[in-house]
Amino acid sequence: MHFDLPQAPLQPLNLPWLQQAKIAAAMLRLDLIDPLISGNKWFKLRHHLQQASASNAPGLISLGGNHSNHLHALAAAGKRFGFATAGLLRGHAQDTPTVLDLQALGMELHWLGYGGYRARNEAGFWEPWQARYPGWHCIPEGGGGLAGAQGCALIMQQAQAQIPALGWSGYDAWWLAAGTGTTLAGLVMAEAGAHVVHGALAVPRGHGVLEAVATLAGAHGYQLHDACRGGFGKFDAELLAFVADCERHTGVPLEALYTGKALLALREQVEAGLFAPGTRLLFVHTGGLQGRRGYL
Ligand SMILES: Cc1ncc(COP(=O)(O)O)c(C=O)c1O
Repeated sequence: MHFDLPQAPLQPLNLPWLQQAKIAAAMLRLDLIDPLISGNKWFKLRHHLQQASASNAPGLISLGGNHSNHLHALAAAGKRFGFATAGLLRGHAQDTPTVLDLQALGMELHWLGYGGYRARNEAGFWEPWQARYPGWHCIPEGGGGLAGAQGCALIMQQAQAQIPALGWSGYDAWWLAAGTGTTLAGLVMAEAGAHVVHGALAVPRGHGVLEAVATLAGAHGYQLHDACRGGFGKFDAELLAFVADCERHTGVPLEALYTGKALLALREQVEAGLFAPGTRLLFVHTGGLQGRRGYL
């Protein structure tokens, strides 16, 4: 079975604070590749779908929170490509818009509570689920791990194919949100040092992202910037006003908790002089628009 990727458009990103600093930027619109399997999720799932197909797995099983973009994309991909899906959720049963979609897409849900969810990285966690769902393909939280990162190399290829159409002779660096760090690690691996990849941390440093990226991609070729503004999933009035302002300027719908925080961290670093005038940046819109219903 083929899980071919649609092409994400690369569009000029015009914002006053970028123009003032004489930074050229373009946004890779991963949010536009599919109405349901949106953003970086498709790239992170692609190798898992191939593995599941190769092993004739009847279904796919993974974990996430009750606004999870990852579970949302997984449920949609399962329905699209003929795999059953099961989701292991953090906390206790709740009807968020995302959860209602998961059910409508046919995903079987199991609520693990908070303690049960914390055990997800312990040895033996998957055993009872593998016994319950024999032969199903298990996907780590957030689509993380090597298979997820390898799928993200295609993000680089899609962007590079469109650089000449922008009128650019090349580009200098990437900027994107990091949650598990898988997408960032995939770009670092694909770039192999050719261009620096900047990750804006949507989670606190203690969440293991640094270790996960180092394990996948080593110590070089990237920089991580604090961007979580008090915690994963937290938002504040300044962030929401900034996102609304960027949406007004660009006409591009944004989600605050990843893409919005990443753009705000970019503005801070641009204003602090991290990039010389003339720098050409590729900003990745990692999708997640379905998750907006959780906080708006
Ligand atoms: C919309 C969105 N952007 C960015 C990310 C971060 O991607 P990664 O986990 O690969 O760092 C996620 C999920 O984690 C997400 O849902």
